[in-house]
Amino acid sequence: MKQITSRKSPLTFSDKEVSETAIAEILQNASWASSSYNNQPWYFISVFRKEKKVFQAVLDTLVPANQEWAGSASCFIVNLATSRYSNGKENKFYTYELGMAVANYVTLAMDKGIYCHQMAGFSKDKLEKVIKIPAEY
Ligand SMILES: Cc1cc2nc3c(=O)[nH]c(=O)nc-3n(C[C@H](O)[C@H](O)[C@H](O)COP(=O)(O)O)c2cc1C
Repeated sequence: MKQITSRKSPLTFSDKEVSETAIAEILQNASWASSSYNNQPWYFISVFRKEKKVFQAVLDTLVPANQEWAGSASCFIVNLATSRYSNGKENKFYTYELGMAVANYVTLAMDKGIYCHQMAGFSKDKLEKVIKIPAEY
């Protein structure tokens, strides 16, 4: 399946803007991923380059090596998940489940010709000051 085998994490992106509609569709469909008790612990926040101030603020939360290339991306997606089921019990699989949903959206994005480059190199503390993250995530 070429959406999987041609996937890569680019260090430069085209000037073309990705549409909010395309990202919304991709994230919506990513939610078809399986999760324990169908809990769907994932939550995604997208920030588009045209939202200049917040986009720059998110860029500033990245480690320097990521800041060097990530500014050319058209959109950031912040991936969040809750570690509790709705009854308050701990869900030990929430990162696994988030990873499945992310793998879905990376593949769905490829289907639209949109490349993703995932990053763990950022400051969570700084990001929490830039984006309002719901308490449970
Ligand atoms: C959880 C996770 C965190 C990552 N963090 C970073 C990162 O902070 N900076 C970066 O340049 N790449 C990051 N990557 C991308 C990997 O380095 C990249 O996927 C890997 O080198 C394989 O390259 P490919 O995706 O082009 O096949 C991350 C990937 C994953 C899955």
